[in-house]
Amino acid sequence: MSQRLKPIIWENRKLYIIDQTLLPKTLTHVSIETLEEAEEAIKLLKIRGAPALGIFAGFALVCILINRKPKNINDAIDILKNSAIAIKKTRPTAVNLFWAIDRILKVVHNSNFESVSSLINLLEQEATNIYQEEINACKQIGIYGNSLIKNNSTVLTHCNAGALATGEYGTALSPIYIASEEGKKVHIYADETRPLLQGARLTAWELQYAGIPVTLICDNMAGQVMKEKKLDMVIVGADRIAKNGDTANKIGTYSLSILARYHGIPFYVCAPSSTFDLNISDGSQIPIEERNPDEICFFNNKRNAPEGISIYNPAFDVTPAENITAFITEKGIIYPPFEKNISEMIGII
Ligand code: MRU
Repeated sequence: MSQRLKPIIWENRKLYIIDQTLLPKTLTHVSIETLEEAEEAIKLLKIRGAPALGIFAGFALVCILINRKPKNINDAIDILKNSAIAIKKTRPTAVNLFWAIDRILKVVHNSNFESVSSLINLLEQEATNIYQEEINACKQIGIYGNSLIKNNSTVLTHCNAGALATGEYGTALSPIYIASEEGKKVHIYADETRPLLQGARLTAWELQYAGIPVTLICDNMAGQVMKEKKLDMVIVGADRIAKNGDTANKIGTYSLSILARYHGIPFYVCAPSSTFDLNISDGSQIPIEERNPDEICFFNNKRNAPEGISIYNPAFDVTPAENITAFITEKGIIYPPFEKNISEMIGII
């Protein structure tokens, strides 16, 4: 990876994020100081992607606490708990958000601290651990995933599961970065990913920024590309993976998995352990976020659908485990039978 993107920066106890709504036109970091700013950043997708949401939530709780200047320990715990409840309400599907917040809250329950400042030190350490662990996991996913990529491969991806969606490297894009660092030639097809165009605005931009060849297609072209171009594989990220391997990811992933299966193309899901939710048995229990209908009927601030039309806008769908060839995690590659192998490899997080 020639130039590393850092979507989240924690520096001198201040939190900065790349405002991803401004990409690809403008690459700029904005600072986040208050609970309201953190909630807005998540809801508007200034920060997005499952692992990045977890990392962001960890630092956001620390920074909200510092900026609210609690009077005593009880006051600090109230601020933390209320902020955690509010941040958990922002987006329901990516489990990493809930996982990271619960890790931060566990520090409060499980540690001894005598002052607000010692509590803040402990929380900052835990948020930093989450950040570093997720970066390491992504790199390791890339190393395992790279073992599946041959020289001159062509890979299709959906949404953005790259550096912008994590700390560095990404999940689905990590094997591609590692393969390219090793000198392999890999060509990526990026689905544009309607309605919010994470593929066009973010993946196409991120890969171009890293100097990796990428071709952008509309979502409804994937079948034709599979038929014509003989794609070697599909690699996507994930927002939540149930115990049986059913996987929630950006809307459109499910259809892509059916196309891949029909065409006999391997379909890989890359995700760190923090994206597995072993408390739910299958995908029917994954909450699917429904977003503002305006995202569908407006394009570039221009209305493209009649006034008063009924609109349904689910932001994620669930790919059934049987359409997935394997999960690429930081602990290794998980093949079927998924229920048994996921619990053996991810069991204790
Ligand atoms: O709505 P978004 O942009 O947060 O959706 C992101 C995705 O669906 C990603 O594929 C997923 O979070 C994996 S990111 C490594």
